Amino acid sequence: MNVVIIGAGVVGLGTAWRCAARGADVTLVDPAPVSGASGVAAGMLTPVSELDYGEEPLLRLGVASRNRYPGFVAELEELTGLDTGHRTDGLLEVAFDADDLRVLEDVKRFQEALGVPTEALDRRECRRLEPMLAPTVRGGLYAPEDGSIDPRRLAPALLAGAERLGARIVRRRAAEVVVRGDAAAGVRLDDGTELPADRVLLAAGPWAGEVGGIPPGVVPTVRPVKGQVLRLRTRVPFLRRTTRGVVRGSSVYLVPRADGEIVVGATQEELGFDTRVTAGGVWELLRDARELVPGITELDFAEVTAGLRPGSPDNAPVLGPSALPGLVLGVGHYRNGILLTPVTADALSAALLDGELPEVARPFSPDRFSPGRVQEGV
Ligand code: GLY
Repeated sequence: MNVVIIGAGVVGLGTAWRCAARGADVTLVDPAPVSGASGVAAGMLTPVSELDYGEEPLLRLGVASRNRYPGFVAELEELTGLDTGHRTDGLLEVAFDADDLRVLEDVKRFQEALGVPTEALDRRECRRLEPMLAPTVRGGLYAPEDGSIDPRRLAPALLAGAERLGARIVRRRAAEVVVRGDAAAGVRLDDGTELPADRVLLAAGPWAGEVGGIPPGVVPTVRPVKGQVLRLRTRVPFLRRTTRGVVRGSSVYLVPRADGEIVVGATQEELGFDTRVTAGGVWELLRDARELVPGITELDFAEVTAGLRPGSPDNAPVLGPSALPGLVLGVGHYRNGILLTPVTADALSAALLDGELPEVARPFSPDRFSPGRVQEGV
């Protein structure tokens, strides 16, 4: 089976690796692999904290993906010899006032109803877990099964793994999907070269709509949602695990790495294809992170970057065979691309090679956007 994948972010790379492992002939097309959100993201593996109520199928997908991470990275690290920075030290979510606490109580009920374990903590217990937390913290929730990964290590490891198993990467822009008869038959590059394919995967993130040749209505609108992210550095032990909170209604998170990096994110801005980093974005993140952990002002400032999250019309991923035979979609992962990488790679490789979308991914099939379809909550 000959598979051409448009987009070498974590979705394209993970699927390329899984397809190559099953013996498919895989070509990835991307002018600049890992230059999108995959290289900016903090890498939280926290299925609940990014969701709204009523998103149970997405929570199930996120939990399934987080649970696949240990096996996924063990296999990848063994194949490539590369470390992915995977951590399973939990998530601490804290509240600053009575309203925040009530929100966390609701979150706990929601999680428990779905069988996701969490522990409610008082102020002292929060500070025992994370001594650098502000004394004004009122209480929190600890999710022991959550964790994080370093996307800047994961993505190159996926690329190395895919290449090790025979996938090739073409560093050019995909101009269009070639359609013959009524099916996708390949990809035409921006220099006119045609790459023939039995199946094509569109995994181009927020640029999905810029790939030509696809009949209207086949790919739902994918919009860019900008996130600015800071990277700080510490030489002394600082935070032990991913820590987040809501400060005056806006959510901020800090993700520590073993090498002393602390990633602080993220703004949420609907400004089209704008990746400028702004003084206001940096100020907002530092202001909110300082409320959570006052000592961050002592850390070294290393970097600020902006990425574009790919948001579908319902902010849930779009996974599986499209209305154009031969074209499979892997777009719209929004705030959950890194978390959903293992389950997406497994689901899309099954869709590409077997023509079957696994059960857990079925609520995210592209046909939920078909005209006349009544949408169930995802
Ligand atoms: N998942 C984190 C973010 O989108 O900011």
